[in-house]
Amino acid sequence: MRIVDIIKKKRNGNKLNKNEIDFFINGYINGEIYDYQASALLMAILLKGMDNEETTNLTFAIRDSGEKLDFSKIDGVRVDKHSTGGVGDKTSLIVAPIVASLGVKVAKMSGRGLGHTGGTVDKLESITGYKTELSNEEFIKQVNDIGISIVGQSANLAPADKKLYALRDVTGTVESLPLVVSSIMGKKLCADDDVIVLDIKCGSGAICKTVDESKELASLMVDIGKKAGKKMLALITDMDKPLGYAIGNSLEVVEAIETLKGNGPKDLTEICVILASNMLYLAGKGSLKECETAVRKSISDGSALNKLVELVDRQGGDKNLILNPNNFEKAKYKCEIYAESNGYITSIDTEGYGNASLMLGAGRNSLKDKIDYTAGIILNKKTGDSVNKGDLIATLYSNTNSFENAKNLFINSTVISDVKPGEKPLVLDIVK
Ligand code: URA
Repeated sequence: MRIVDIIKKKRNGNKLNKNEIDFFINGYINGEIYDYQASALLMAILLKGMDNEETTNLTFAIRDSGEKLDFSKIDGVRVDKHSTGGVGDKTSLIVAPIVASLGVKVAKMSGRGLGHTGGTVDKLESITGYKTELSNEEFIKQVNDIGISIVGQSANLAPADKKLYALRDVTGTVESLPLVVSSIMGKKLCADDDVIVLDIKCGSGAICKTVDESKELASLMVDIGKKAGKKMLALITDMDKPLGYAIGNSLEVVEAIETLKGNGPKDLTEICVILASNMLYLAGKGSLKECETAVRKSISDGSALNKLVELVDRQGGDKNLILNPNNFEKAKYKCEIYAESNGYITSIDTEGYGNASLMLGAGRNSLKDKIDYTAGIILNKKTGDSVNKGDLIATLYSNTNSFENAKNLFINSTVISDVKPGEKPLVLDIVK
């Protein structure tokens, strides 16, 4: 078999078989296939696509490229949730403790921020002392002891994705459905969960901009998860505006804590209730209605918040920050943005908000960049809100006193006009 023939086959729009896909993945991680050859094949896949069988084979080849986690020593049902990435998406910090407080195990591996989207691992590291690296034994013991652990992905899981993702990032081959699906599911399936609930973000802040695209992504991911023996469900949720009002690491942790206290923004609270209820339902904890009642109770009686405190404490974090979120360090500088006319916030370019937050220091431009955990944006107004000239729309926070670029991007990403936009549902579709 020769890689050049496989490249030509895909370039000509033909279907690759399992042996050819395995040959590519194995050869690429062994260094026998070079970056320039892998780039050519990735571009051919982006342009010519892959059918379901090819995408499934690619996903399994990525999953099988490294270590897999054995959760058989964890007692009880294990559930996970995965978001395809959004702006202000702090749902894992809320949903995971809720579900764990109700007796279902959450052994969660999360990612770091990617491009304009934030990542759970970065958010957790904004809590002083929180360790996102545990040995497999520590991880499993903690899940058995307190029902929950959230860590970063270990280096040995799906190494083919690490190499391929870095290559896609610099060869214009990120936005390809089969490549996105195999990248996400190839990693997810390395963990030994029984249930996976997917949160497929859709809109101006997401990889998928339309509901049709999101549904195609969701169906493929659900299908592949089921083939791997998992119980699967995907919610397609709105990302035409940020979730909640906080964007940026410690700012989002504070909003997550408020949500676990029952004081969270309505959109964020409702999405978390829906995600957690579905996770519990698939884990066999009762009807969807019963699960929803249990979720709301875990927020109102404080058990979900207590679970977050326990998680942070056990992973070496300062639990007093969770108990007194006012003590989170604040950025040195801030810049307030006011409405320049009367009307409504007609639309938001959510990716622009994510990039503005990145410019303030909340994300990375390259892997080596250090994050400013205090940087980010607190919104006062979102799509659909009425504004009067001079109203505060948002406050930008940073430790570098240079707001010009982020401010301009934020303003250019906010459309104020006379048009009041229609209400959009939070959940746009469900794929089972
Ligand atoms: N997240 C991933 O892990 N991979 C992608 O391709 C896109 C988002």
